[in-house]
Amino acid sequence: MTNVYLSFCVIALFATNQTYGKDKKCDFLWGTASSSYQVEGGWNAEGKGPSNWDYFTHNNVTKYTIGKSENGDIATNQISREVYLKDIKLMKELGVNSYRFSISWSRVMPDGEVLNPQGIAYYAKLIADLKENGIKPIVTLYHWDMPLALYNRGGWANPDSPFWFDKYAQIIFKKFGDTVPVFITFNEPEGYVFTLEPLADNLVKNKVHPYESVLSVKSRSRQAISLHNVLLANALAVKSFRRSNHAGKIGLALNLSPCIDPKNKNSKAADICNDLHNHWILDALFKGKYPQSIQKMYQNAEPSFVVNNKDMLLIKASKPDFIGVNYYGPTLVKDDNDQPFGVGNRPNPDIKPAYNGPVSPNDMVDMLKKFDQRYGKQSYILTENGAGFGNKDEVRNGAVIEDSLRAEYLEKHIHAVMQARQNNINIVGYLYWSLLDNFEWLWGYDNKFGLISVDFNDRNLTRMPKLSYYRYQTLIKNYSQINSCKANK
Ligand code: BGC
Repeated sequence: MTNVYLSFCVIALFATNQTYGKDKKCDFLWGTASSSYQVEGGWNAEGKGPSNWDYFTHNNVTKYTIGKSENGDIATNQISREVYLKDIKLMKELGVNSYRFSISWSRVMPDGEVLNPQGIAYYAKLIADLKENGIKPIVTLYHWDMPLALYNRGGWANPDSPFWFDKYAQIIFKKFGDTVPVFITFNEPEGYVFTLEPLADNLVKNKVHPYESVLSVKSRSRQAISLHNVLLANALAVKSFRRSNHAGKIGLALNLSPCIDPKNKNSKAADICNDLHNHWILDALFKGKYPQSIQKMYQNAEPSFVVNNKDMLLIKASKPDFIGVNYYGPTLVKDDNDQPFGVGNRPNPDIKPAYNGPVSPNDMVDMLKKFDQRYGKQSYILTENGAGFGNKDEVRNGAVIEDSLRAEYLEKHIHAVMQARQNNINIVGYLYWSLLDNFEWLWGYDNKFGLISVDFNDRNLTRMPKLSYYRYQTLIKNYSQINSCKANK
């Protein structure tokens, strides 16, 4: 994207003087996102208990995917205050006003029961340090790591899990409810509960056909019970948050990717795929019921998946204040009766494909428009958006890493977000995934998404900003001229 195009967009935004729902233009959140296991390290430091991810990685889960054993034991070492203060300095120079990170449940409750004051102290300091630097903390309670003791009791499949989570959430709200303006209860529960966690579990247990089995109707139907528990956990935590009258907002970050069949407008597969991945949770939250045809399929395959009215009323009564949108790209599908649910995949048509799907910002905007139609007007925070294109896009040139594909991706998506705001879609924040290259779950350190590279071969884990970092800096500066509160006065 050229500078000429950027100037055009800035002028276009100046030319209109719209307000965007309840949120003022100047409140826009510019930020980056991360999660505890991916950046903290200190896997057993200062009283932290082991988590499900310590278990997966210490049982060599990445060996099955990338052929080598990697883990988040050290990651980017943000457990060290000295280290994270330098990262905060880089955030400040970047010009962001917010930072999304997650709390490691097993750091604050090592066995899922008893509180670890050192864990709380770490997050208290981090929150204070961010705020001192003018950066709003956006706190995720669950970005996939839970105390191993709870995982060993069945994790989300255990009917007590909503209460475990509510207890943990209440502790966090009590400690930080008055200082944190935005809470996110769960990160991508659909993708995680249906796919990633059962896959990790299959891999470490050396099961046959680990991938095929998680995609099967049977496995998804079983996992629907766990996801239902997650939604109950969300509902209890949101209730607890609201009962304590904190001033902040609370929502969930969902993996949302419109399913599209580019060759068939009336594709059945696209409808089914949207119900499976996007509407499953949103319908439950906003309509108080799951998409019925999918629910029936799940219940046929797994009769113990029972959905009662009381649960659905509870889930619906705890609607989020905003929808956190983790958007990377659309999902391209085709009708295929040989595949589970009749949904086949189409290959990514991009010449230089990103890891997480085709590059298509317009599909994100269309998806949000459709959500507004289906659920009534909503507030959205882009809680994740980012890309990695492999080593060919991580080329070092002097003191900069020239990741031009990532820079272009970022720019296109930010323009689309700003344009969508003009068109009355209430997007109130954009958080790039991620500030730093970090531990990418089953793909270890090979898949990079950072605006800043981390040299994982160097003891000091040296950081180096990439071209995309500087591009984001310019975009924030240019758009802030029109979004800033000062400019509006
Ligand atoms: C997850 C992140 C992950 C990112 C990039 C998202 O689905 O929330 O934890 O690193 O995608 O793959």
